[in-house]
Amino acid sequence: MSKQTWVDLAYLVAAICFILALKGLSSPKSARNGNLIGAAGAVIAVVTVLVSADLKHLPLILVAIAAGTAAAVPTSRRVQMTAMPQLVALFNGVGGGAAAIVAFLELKSTGGGFPLIASLFTVVVGSISFSGSVVTFLKLQEVMTTRPVVLPIHPVLFGGAALGAVVLAVVAFAKGGAVDAATYAAVGVAVLALAVGVLFVLPVGGADVPIVISLLNAFTGLTVAASGYVLDNVLLLIAGTLVGASGTILTRLMATAMGRPITSTLFGALRGGSTGGSTTAGADRPVRSATPDDVAILLAYATKVIIVPGYGLAVAQAQHTVRELADLLAARDVEVLYGIHPVAGRMPGHMNVLLAEANVPYDQLKEMDEVNPQFATTDVVLVIGANDVVNPAARQPGTPISGMPILDVDQAQNVIFLKRSMRPGFAGIDNELLYQPNTTLLFGDAKDSLTKVVSALKNL
Ligand code: TAP
Repeated sequence: MSKQTWVDLAYLVAAICFILALKGLSSPKSARNGNLIGAAGAVIAVVTVLVSADLKHLPLILVAIAAGTAAAVPTSRRVQMTAMPQLVALFNGVGGGAAAIVAFLELKSTGGGFPLIASLFTVVVGSISFSGSVVTFLKLQEVMTTRPVVLPIHPVLFGGAALGAVVLAVVAFAKGGAVDAATYAAVGVAVLALAVGVLFVLPVGGADVPIVISLLNAFTGLTVAASGYVLDNVLLLIAGTLVGASGTILTRLMATAMGRPITSTLFGALRGGSTGGSTTAGADRPVRSATPDDVAILLAYATKVIIVPGYGLAVAQAQHTVRELADLLAARDVEVLYGIHPVAGRMPGHMNVLLAEANVPYDQLKEMDEVNPQFATTDVVLVIGANDVVNPAARQPGTPISGMPILDVDQAQNVIFLKRSMRPGFAGIDNELLYQPNTTLLFGDAKDSLTKVVSALKNL
């Protein structure tokens, strides 16, 4: 067999690994294996390139791989589950930036025509993806404000930078990529595209930022696919297309779960509408609070309990304690279900992954449409570290979460919130449900509170 046939075969195996990885990642049960299969595909791809290509700077390439690995491995190992979206944003930005740099360096060797268009496209979209991802990282890490930032004449700046990038790209194309004028124009394209990325993400409110990460991820996929075309590398083309397609599907799913079209998520603040991440102060009104013993009694004598987990459960890492509580209740013949909102937590499937860590039986996890009709016949709903996903403000117009479907926990006989304070959820708005007569608050860290409820339950 010729060398090229071996290379093609290796690429085929790697491409199959990537497709199987996506399939595996679609369910918490198979996600670990999916991840490993995807990593194996990436290793096959890198090794194939290293042994088959005529590389002029192999030592430098190895140093770059070592430096990247040394930076990425400890970061990925240390990162908290709740900080995963920031990490994804950062890694995604690096991918887009790398594709833009490769395309820029390849401009002169494209020889014009369609490959030059693909290179310029990669410079534009990769730069947008890089700078946009950096801003999403800064927002999620709360290095900068999570509220929408709208500059004076923001739409003009945004439109001007986008138009300027396109015009300069046309100039670079007209000059054929081979002369200095084209290089200068391409530098201008990159700078303006970086500005577009920043101006694109600044007006997006904190609660909507994960959607933008997913969209930028799709952008990076497109740039990688275009790079594959320019470099005549089929595997890059396949991998980029997979990332682009899955990122687009995820973006749509998340926007639908938030109950808003993607255009309103991205440009709502520019039009003067509200987007997630704005803030109103919590009202200074009386609420009903209880002790862990009170909660244990209420739970022990219930017939049906629904647990609604949210971001705070992940912060407290209370998934194992929840499972212990559910087991104790089941032993008392109490029916226990989990109501899972699609955007609870800070990333898609966050609650499923968290509860899977504690081996919560999968058939007890009920999606929103399935669980909502059941609240009316439920004795106690235990809302653990969730807020926005049960906030009835979503049913009224003019709030940052208006239109978002919520879990109808207010229809249950008793609602118990486990949270540390009266602070609002991520969208920053007060939750009327906290003041309702059938609502009780158990203040404290979710894990501490649950541990106390569990021991009270054992003593009953
Ligand atoms: P949030 O509305 O953010 O509420 C989290 C609650 O957890 C807060 O009430 C907080 O109150 C409490 N909490 C935090 N740490 C805690 C701890 N250690 N122990 C006990 N309670 C704790 O969460 P949610 O209901 O899960 O909603 C998710 C938000 O993210 C929504 O706004 C959603 O739109 C947004 N979002 C999510 C996604 C995805 S894909 N998941 C995507 C886009 C947007 P205290 O501070 O008083 O404790």
